Amino acid sequence: MGLELSHLLPGRQRAALRHRADGLRAKIRPMTVIAVFNQKGGVGKTTTALNLLAGMAQRKQRPLGIDLDPQAHLSGIFGIRPRLADDSVYSFFMRQRPLAEISQITESGVFLCPGHLELTKLDTLLGKSVNVVNRLRSALHGADAAPDSVVIDCCPLLGILSLNAIFACDLIVIPVSADYLAFQGAQQVERSLNALEPVLKRRLPRRYLLTRFDARRKMSSEVFDLMAMAFRPGEICTTRIAENVSLAESPARQLDVFRHAPQSAGARDYRSLIDELVGAGLVA
Ligand SMILES: Nc1ncnc2c1ncn2[C@@H]1O[C@H](COP(=O)(O)OP(=O)(O)O)[C@@H](O)[C@H]1O
Ligand SMILES: [Mg+2]
Repeated sequence: MGLELSHLLPGRQRAALRHRADGLRAKIRPMTVIAVFNQKGGVGKTTTALNLLAGMAQRKQRPLGIDLDPQAHLSGIFGIRPRLADDSVYSFFMRQRPLAEISQITESGVFLCPGHLELTKLDTLLGKSVNVVNRLRSALHGADAAPDSVVIDCCPLLGILSLNAIFACDLIVIPVSADYLAFQGAQQVERSLNALEPVLKRRLPRRYLLTRFDARRKMSSEVFDLMAMAFRPGEICTTRIAENVSLAESPARQLDVFRHAPQSAGARDYRSLIDELVGAGLVA
């Protein structure tokens, strides 16, 4: 795994990071691939991917984040903004550059394959053949050094990037910010996943996650009731992510919520989400 940022750190930390990277190379154990997706923007996908990754890293895991959104917000929050598309997942898709060469360690203890604006071109450049939609799955499952967990941050479009995430993942987490358009986006995801089922040859495990929940707003509980009617009960997270100022502030400081405000309600909610996924056997 790349340690390109490590030269910015003091020697002792640098050695510790190198040790962790070596551990990552050496390990062979089951991994979980989680795609965070909703066909609507601004619903908490990046916030969820960021804090799932950071929360896992706090549990002594070495998760790998993959930023499949051309806006690359996840990469920016982790402080990684490649100037060249070739230093992002773009080169993985275009010329099969190994993910391990693209990934960089972040200060949250997460490895990250950054995104880049050029990713918008991939749909036109690559088409949607079976070979192309399975590219990420093949790379993750063929890797001789698998991370414990992989979290993929998706963009809201069901294009080649999101299809790669869906085909590669063991679990899809669908954040629904407590409003109607986010709920409609989630319904669209349910329809898309159902349409893909014959190709996937299984019902893809999924969890709908209510985010930006505000108990004082009627709309929040109305959206929750709609979710309960539209989706299978076992597929709605018990954990709700409340509207929380620390979650909104932390990206501006380039921090995950655990480093920005470890005692906040936002940190508590994302901790409990990870507990729930671990408890359900969905995450190691
Ligand atoms: N639980 C929350 N409480 C407050 N603000 C939130 C919460 N979740 C997300 N946000 C904010 O909402 C905006 C959209 O969230 P983001 O995760 O970027 O959505 P997406 O990736 O789906 O577009 C961001 O400004 C983010 O900081
Ligand atoms: Mg996003």
